[in-house]
Amino acid sequence: MHIDPLEKKWMIVIGFITVVMVGSMTYAAVVMNMHPPSNVETIDSSRLHLTEEFAEDNLGVKDNGDGTLTVTMVAARYGFFPPVIDVPVDTPVKFRIASADVLHGVHVPFTNAASMIVPGYVSEFTTTFPKTGKYSFLCNEYCGLGHDSMWSRLNVVAKTAGGTN
Ligand code: CUA
Repeated sequence: MHIDPLEKKWMIVIGFITVVMVGSMTYAAVVMNMHPPSNVETIDSSRLHLTEEFAEDNLGVKDNGDGTLTVTMVAARYGFFPPVIDVPVDTPVKFRIASADVLHGVHVPFTNAASMIVPGYVSEFTTTFPKTGKYSFLCNEYCGLGHDSMWSRLNVVAKTAGGTN
């Protein structure tokens, strides 16, 4: 079979690009633990305040009693509630976040915490923060005029003796 030399060069280039792209995705997934969150759990976004889990008084950090934490949050124009979350370092934290209005996203820079927050669904992901410090929850889906100022604070603090928080 005859293959034009120029075409052959392009086949090699395209093969190389494919290997680099699939390789970097595999590397991110396996080594850096970057996975798209997958949790299909529906909720009525217009009635979050009437649910037990997402009622205002029940938001925030909960100790699961097994060395892990659950953080329940609501995303709404234009903020995340509660606005300040403190979690200990090196502790598995399961985030459960629901939108009260439109599509939002959450991203904590310099960590692997990121998810879309789709109205009608509970976004869930689990992560562990390896370094203490002040981090920001940033909205990364355009949600309206206040999108740029939609953020909140995440403090990763040292573990206290005898407990996870
Ligand atoms: Cu919420 Cu952008």
